[in-house]
Amino acid sequence: MINSEKTFIITTSILCLSIAIGEPVPFLMQLDRWEVLLPSIGISAMHMQLLHNGMVVMFDRTDFGISNISLPGGMCRFDPSDTAVKFDCSAHSVLYDVVSNTYRALKVQTDTWCSSGSVLPNGTLVQTGGYNDGERAARMFTPCGYSETCDWIEFPQYLAQRRWYATNQILPDGRIIVVGGRRQFNFEIFPRPDYHRYKGSRFEFLRETSDGDNENNLYPFLHLLPDGNLFVFANTRSIVFDYKSNRIVRVFPEIPGGDPRNYPSSGSSILFPLDETKNVMEAEIMVCGGAPKGAFSRARSQHGFTRAISTCGRLKLSGSNPIWEMETMPLPRVMGDMLLLPTGNIIIINGAGSGTAGWENGHDPVTQPIIYHPFDRRFSIMSTSSRPRMYHSSAVLLPDGRVLVGGSNPHIYYNFTNVEYPTELSLEAYSPPYLSFTSDSIRPKILTNDKIVGYKRLFNVNFFIAQFLTIYLLSVRIVAPSFTTHSFAMNQRMVILKLLSVTRDGLTNSYRIDALGPSTAEIAPPGYYMMFLVHAGVPSSAAWVQIE
Ligand SMILES: *[C@@H]1O[C@H](CO)[C@@H](O)[C@H](O)[C@H]1NC(C)=O
Ligand SMILES: *[C@@H]1O[C@H](CO)[C@@H](O)[C@H](O)[C@H]1NC(C)=O
Ligand SMILES: *[C@@H]1O[C@H](CO)[C@@H](O)[C@H](O)[C@H]1NC(C)=O
Repeated sequence: MINSEKTFIITTSILCLSIAIGEPVPFLMQLDRWEVLLPSIGISAMHMQLLHNGMVVMFDRTDFGISNISLPGGMCRFDPSDTAVKFDCSAHSVLYDVVSNTYRALKVQTDTWCSSGSVLPNGTLVQTGGYNDGERAARMFTPCGYSETCDWIEFPQYLAQRRWYATNQILPDGRIIVVGGRRQFNFEIFPRPDYHRYKGSRFEFLRETSDGDNENNLYPFLHLLPDGNLFVFANTRSIVFDYKSNRIVRVFPEIPGGDPRNYPSSGSSILFPLDETKNVMEAEIMVCGGAPKGAFSRARSQHGFTRAISTCGRLKLSGSNPIWEMETMPLPRVMGDMLLLPTGNIIIINGAGSGTAGWENGHDPVTQPIIYHPFDRRFSIMSTSSRPRMYHSSAVLLPDGRVLVGGSNPHIYYNFTNVEYPTELSLEAYSPPYLSFTSDSIRPKILTNDKIVGYKRLFNVNFFIAQFLTIYLLSVRIVAPSFTTHSFAMNQRMVILKLLSVTRDGLTNSYRIDALGPSTAEIAPPGYYMMFLVHAGVPSSAAWVQIE
């Protein structure tokens, strides 16, 4: 199938063209917008995961003082290893319901600071690691109905190693790989293999890419590739890693410029949509932003804020001689979150214009997101939020196409006053231009769909649309909801599925799609995905499908 955005450029008016490519429309009005959803959810959303019941699990750390929300049921927690208060009746995790815009406190008992997560194929969130009494914990959260009170279940000594600043990726067989963490040059698998002294597997690449005391390669960027191997980016280097045989199968050139891209020089990274409609599936990644070498020690020792990096590198992983193609963002940014929008464009949101990750290390908040258009390699600067989103902020894509933004706390404690960037408890939503009512006439609306989609199996979607242009402008995409923290959206991926036919239901404006499930579990690991229809650059709201 022809790529919809390109076709669209040829066939439609300037107004629609602008909407499709996410550009502010020059003569009319700003089509994108920010809204504050809730002024306080009681905690700072350092980590976020959207679940398939439309709720978002959020949490920060547990051992740095009293939050602004109480634990459920008047419960309190006595923790002798807490670094701020030993006796704490406040909660550090909440469950946010997107549709009703409400939240409730959750009980997490051990410290979840700077941890990682993935969702199992059955929809249960697995969170791994943290700090202090939580550094070897695995925790599970199984979604439940609105009126039920499901909560965290913790397994405090579950992990083989301490995992603080590790990255996770769901694997084709439904297991989870947990890679690295502070002073951990190894990886492990969840669920833990069934033998007594399991210690994980060595991964020397992480030792080799470490600057100083394990700097600039924490929260390594992981992407599961269509061949089943892992792309791993740490500091300035990247490889294709066969985790099954613990073997590096490919080494890429260093990213040009020599500047580090991982924590605390936190840039971000995405895997471009995997396209089943092409004859040959190509995997391409993009890494954006970060902080120059030395920026972290300069921020820490001299309170000096180095200008962030404004380059992105694109790397096609197939082909015999991969080279980095560099792009320049209109704004430099460190600690930006990169998310795939349903259209296949990339949003880069949150973060700072100078400094690095770490306590009090960031400056010059960048409150304007940018949207990158991969086909014509263009960036658009979008409208401004009033709230700085610095260290410990996060963002996830919602099923309705908005981007949920929360968190920001560059302090060791909850500090609401007398600091430069107060601990931020609010939630905001950013609506990209494609959500403007001016696109509603060509926006598909999913009416019914098969809830279970098998590999290479036919499935149906019924949709309504006021003005259907043509089949060449329509595509079906699935997006895995990410576990976002510290500027990286773990497990995020988009697959554009093969569309076989679109049939009109008589003379109505309803249509039926026959489409094919993803080819393999390497392309789309089993689990719940948001399925979007995108028509002429305008997405529907998503319906959930379970790939199996
Ligand atoms: C804490 O929560 C209360 C309402 O429960 C709110 O009025 C207050 O502004 C919140 N504090 C902060 C710092 O957001
Ligand atoms: C998913 O699987 C995990 C691990 O076996 C289990 O603990 C959890 O309860 C399951 N969740 C659901 C929704 O069945
Ligand atoms: C934050 O608040 C704590 C007390 O709760 C205080 O000790 C600390 O100095 C404050 N941090 C800053 C950066 O002012």
